[in-house]
Amino acid sequence: MSITVLTPAKVNLVLGVGPKRADGFHDLATVYYALDLHDELVVAHRADDRIVLTVTGTQPNLHRLPVDGRNLVVRAAQALRARCGRRAGADITLHKNIPLTAGLAGGSSDAAAALVACNALWGLDLALDDLLTIAAELGSDVPFCLLGGAVLGSGRGELVTPLPVVGTQHWVLVLADGGLSTPAMFAALDRSRESGTAAPPTEVVPADLLSALADGDVAGIAAAMTNDLEPVALAARPDLARVLDTARAAGAAGALVSGSGPTCAVLAHNAGSADRMAIALRAAGVGRQVLVSTGPAVGARIV
Ligand code: C5P
Repeated sequence: MSITVLTPAKVNLVLGVGPKRADGFHDLATVYYALDLHDELVVAHRADDRIVLTVTGTQPNLHRLPVDGRNLVVRAAQALRARCGRRAGADITLHKNIPLTAGLAGGSSDAAAALVACNALWGLDLALDDLLTIAAELGSDVPFCLLGGAVLGSGRGELVTPLPVVGTQHWVLVLADGGLSTPAMFAALDRSRESGTAAPPTEVVPADLLSALADGDVAGIAAAMTNDLEPVALAARPDLARVLDTARAAGAAGALVSGSGPTCAVLAHNAGSADRMAIALRAAGVGRQVLVSTGPAVGARIV
């Protein structure tokens, strides 16, 4: 028997970053939003108690992804097993579509998928709340990836409250060559704050965004989109400014760097506009790849 789980990419509609905490993380005021761009994770029983991960796909730099205990997928399976006092093994195959170190939470989403898949494979029957607790220990974005949809994130991101959203929103994702390191972007923001060059932190998610999501008001969502990490991502990757400018000139409702970058997420007024912008962005030759996507997508789920 094998079990297949699809798990989504994310964008942060608002990413407010507070000061660095004693534990090295930053308090966040964020709205996570899941996109219809998925990794697929397939798990099957093994006769022994090893957790063996194989990664396939065409994303660049896949060979750099560790397949041992440094990979969040393996750590998720181990954490789940430890929690239940089991010695079960699993063969795990991860088909990567979400680009690596792209600011789309691909690794966190794969960990969420491993929790859902192994919970079913091993017949553990843990409830969502239990999975959320383990997820929070694995990474700040992992609880959100279990839920999907649109979610208010606080704490270091691990405290999650689902938000009502009306309608389907249409997005264009501009993938970039190379990646940006999340810890490096947080550290760059700390430095620019110490030197007094950064804008003050966004401390609360604007109420206007929550009402725009609940009303399905695309212009309202776009108007409220912000990312405190965007200035440092643009400083590290000046080429991204052209992506955002090109998207805005092509009629975007809104455009921002996704998470710690370098992917740019472009919100379209409707499906036709998303297609037209994708064509314009491809013609302009910005980014490595231009994808059309929709949201909000559901979190890691068995198919
Ligand atoms: O939680 P996660 O392992 O995904 O975080 C990766 C890195 O991003 C952390 O080691 C930290 O450097 C940075 N981070 C942060 N504050 C957060 C989330 C992540 O500083 N709230």
